[in-house]
Amino acid sequence: MEGIRLQKYMAACGVASRRKAELLINEGRVAVNGAVITGQGHSVRDGDVVTVDGRIITPEKNKVYILLNKPRGVVSTANDESGRKTVLDFVKGAQERLYPVGRLDYNTSGLIMLTNDGGFTKYMTHPSHNVGKTYTVTADRDVSAADIARLADGIDIGGYTTAKAGVSYLERDNKRTIKITIFEGRNRQVRRMMEALDYGVRSLRRTCIGNICDNDLREGEWRNLSSDEIRGLGYDIEQRP
Ligand code: URA
Repeated sequence: MEGIRLQKYMAACGVASRRKAELLINEGRVAVNGAVITGQGHSVRDGDVVTVDGRIITPEKNKVYILLNKPRGVVSTANDESGRKTVLDFVKGAQERLYPVGRLDYNTSGLIMLTNDGGFTKYMTHPSHNVGKTYTVTADRDVSAADIARLADGIDIGGYTTAKAGVSYLERDNKRTIKITIFEGRNRQVRRMMEALDYGVRSLRRTCIGNICDNDLREGEWRNLSSDEIRGLGYDIEQRP
């Protein structure tokens, strides 16, 4: 095998642009199989060990970002001890090892993302990034306008008061079904918000994550997210760990 130029290999490892890689080489900070390389034009072959400042570098994996419309009755963890169906069962064709971004309850349907990019998961699950999640909730009775205002203002769900949320009726003539957008993600948060006002939840579906909604995705279907959609969530897809 011919190998690839050292600076190209370094760029594929996400260490630096090719230009910056050349500088690192000139500065004597790069070694191949223990030998410091100072001139340009060196090639890396299969099995070579490349270090920068003494740390081994390896090519980055292909990053994958998937949007799945999870049906009810599916767990959103990667494994389930009792053998129930998991979100990973739907994306078996994917080459990479994926894991879910956050959680969606067993009895909740709707959008969940899967990725192999740990930085993305960290970003999406951190409340300071304010990525809204929108749910359609059908209650066991009509929801009053006063309760819509209470849910929107913040409500005690057992020792924690929820942050402000976007809450409205979904349709004009149906007071049982409401739309809730929250910017945080406490365990079973939407159900607990409804329970705090004595409503039972007949069904719960996550319809949007940020501005990505489920319009074209049927339950059990998935698709790749585009780079623009990822950037639209505020995540810098080019960022390096
Ligand atoms: N809120 C819930 O109660 N359940 C979910 O799955 C997501 C948000």
